[in-house]
Amino acid sequence: MKKVYLDYSATTPVDERVFKKMMPFFSQKYGNASSLHSFGQESKLVLEGAREKVADLISASSEEIIFTSSATESNNLALKGLLKKGDHLIISSIEHHCVEETANYLKREGVLVTKLEVDKKGFVKDLQKNIQKNTVLISIIHASNEIGVIQDIEKIGKIAKKNNILFHTDAAQSFGKVPIDVKYIDLLTASSHKIYGPKGAACLYVKKGIKLTPLLHGGGQEQGLRPSTYNISAIVGFGKAAEIAGKEMEKDYNHQVFLRDKIIEEALKIKGCYLNGDNQKRLPNNINLRFSGIEGEALVIKLDLEGIAVSTGSACASAKLEPSSVLLALGLKPHQAHGSLRISLGKYTTEKEIDYFLKILLKSVKELKQISPYK
Ligand SMILES: Cc1ncc(COP(=O)(O)O)c(C=O)c1O
Repeated sequence: MKKVYLDYSATTPVDERVFKKMMPFFSQKYGNASSLHSFGQESKLVLEGAREKVADLISASSEEIIFTSSATESNNLALKGLLKKGDHLIISSIEHHCVEETANYLKREGVLVTKLEVDKKGFVKDLQKNIQKNTVLISIIHASNEIGVIQDIEKIGKIAKKNNILFHTDAAQSFGKVPIDVKYIDLLTASSHKIYGPKGAACLYVKKGIKLTPLLHGGGQEQGLRPSTYNISAIVGFGKAAEIAGKEMEKDYNHQVFLRDKIIEEALKIKGCYLNGDNQKRLPNNINLRFSGIEGEALVIKLDLEGIAVSTGSACASAKLEPSSVLLALGLKPHQAHGSLRISLGKYTTEKEIDYFLKILLKSVKELKQISPYK
């Protein structure tokens, strides 16, 4: 059976060039980057090279990059590392679960949390209005993992700066896909496995001078902020993936936007199909559709039977049966949110695959509508 992977927002395959770069670091160049001997120093050198590549992609200095194991860890480090009882945190109502749940944890520890609402298109509202005297951090997702909407982080960063508040953004979905400059950003989360690098490597950008409390205590790695022996092969892969993403961003962007817009144009011809989130300021690879009278899960399963991998929302939420909180935040009713589908493209997606997807989508929607009690 033909297999079409359209769930690149969940994770991406490792680019062959990245894989090749990583290989020697499993069995030949295995030194601990913290060791003084030549084995260690060889690893240290490539570690710092990877750090520079990641920093370059967001116009940061390499000393401002703290390697972690995942975007979840980076987000936890940013929020827990900065906030204490009595502080005020502002997040949005469309954060990834790892920010939302960290905020919920902090709330139980005595941190005050405000969740900003978003408008119908998915843009955050009323930031200035919600700033308090004790607001320490604003953490707002750059590009939504579900609806792909890209927030104006420069505008948010300027408001934060004007009010002397730190600004963190979870850029796990946008890093390497759209240009980012950390000029107005104090902390930023980025991940390797969303940009054709391996799983197990991510980073937190921390602007020079910002003090954080580490989550882990141990050795002095990563300026004491992330002790643990370096996962050198994964970090090397992350660096290479960042380098490729920087060099090929424009080409990959244009390729995916072309395919994205083709899907949107064709899908919207289906009766009862709508696009969730803004149609302009969205990731080049994200399409989030809503079909009236159809269950998103039923569509995902039907498409899977035809070899097509898509999702209803974020991968980590797919086991939950509640409607997506991100879609509800847009003002959708639970039954509308249940009828949504996330299609996320990648640099390897071809037009032929999209044509096949559109054909099967049309057929599947038709069949599901026939058995739907809602016409
Ligand atoms: C925006 C965003 N933040 C954080 C994460 C968490 O990434 P990980 O599960 O790799 O830690 C994801 C993963 O989908 C994401 O899309």
